[in-house]
Amino acid sequence: MTESLFLKNLWYFAIHGSSLKQGKLIGKEILGERILFGRDKDDRPFALKDNCPHRGVPLSQGWYDGNIIQCCYHGWKFDHSGTCVGIPALADEKFDTKKIKVFQYPCKEINGTIWIYIPQNKTQLQGAEARLPNLLIPADKKFLFVEKVIMPADIDHAVIGLIDPAHVTFVHQSWYWRSAKNLKLKEKKFEPVDLGFKMTRHKPSSNSKGYSILKGGTSTEINFQLPGIRLEHILVGKNEVVSITCLTPINEKETELNHIFFTSINFVKYVWWPLRQLGKQFIHQDLGVFRKLGEGLKSKPTLMLLGEPDAQARWYHELKRQWDLSQQNNTPFVNPVKAKTLHWVT
Ligand code: FES
Ligand SMILES: [Fe+2]
Repeated sequence: MTESLFLKNLWYFAIHGSSLKQGKLIGKEILGERILFGRDKDDRPFALKDNCPHRGVPLSQGWYDGNIIQCCYHGWKFDHSGTCVGIPALADEKFDTKKIKVFQYPCKEINGTIWIYIPQNKTQLQGAEARLPNLLIPADKKFLFVEKVIMPADIDHAVIGLIDPAHVTFVHQSWYWRSAKNLKLKEKKFEPVDLGFKMTRHKPSSNSKGYSILKGGTSTEINFQLPGIRLEHILVGKNEVVSITCLTPINEKETELNHIFFTSINFVKYVWWPLRQLGKQFIHQDLGVFRKLGEGLKSKPTLMLLGEPDAQARWYHELKRQWDLSQQNNTPFVNPVKAKTLHWVT
């Protein structure tokens, strides 16, 4: 079975909560579907198919008073569940407008970030809530927003770029992080977890200078989950740092990367500006190499995944195939990853 590019029946990061203001509508393409995001009067986010059922105009181009969305073409009105509640031009007062519905996607705000569930079949939404990702921080805490960029690549290339250890030496070179002259043999233990795998808790390597500002018993665990979430959980003594990268396919050619950050370390708020710049620099280094990759891929070259440095990329494809299978056959997902120690030089 060939795997599909986009995985369905999963939650995708949509928007950092701070950019979705009450009374505003945001139209966004996710997995090739046009989606409208808004917030209701109680501040809860909602997501609707962004096409008016009348003639298809994006509803996000219309008006929203925080209660009713009105299409900009003939003024049809919808509530935030997508139910049509008014058709201004219709003289027949007995017509029940409520029969007309715009599809409402499951949408949730977790720790100040907004997620959307993309179903395989729009009439089958049961079980969605149970699949919400665990973002590792207490329910009342919020993530800070670091950066959003659009990678000119499909989700598979974007994910592989995210979990690929070997590019770090060459793409993320800098005096304060590491250099290509200072290579070391790395040995990392991996285990299957949930919809992915994790690099088990370990001390950050001594040639990653970036960690050295975090003194005192620092250890890190890195977890990858379908459809494209990388969660790094760092313990610094009793404090924690959670750094998450989320990949959301826009369409077959573009993938949005969002980076969010949380820490319980108090002094970080005083150094947040420079720290955020560092995070952005990292992401833009990846974006830079992805622009070059995009050029290279235009001629559709044959590619390879080689040895242990590319083992995580192979696991990603196996995980995808298993997810597809489980959703098509309506069977439980069986994680194909086996515990293993991987080696590479970076
Ligand atoms: S297209 Fe929306 S009201 Fe006609
Ligand atoms: Fe990278």
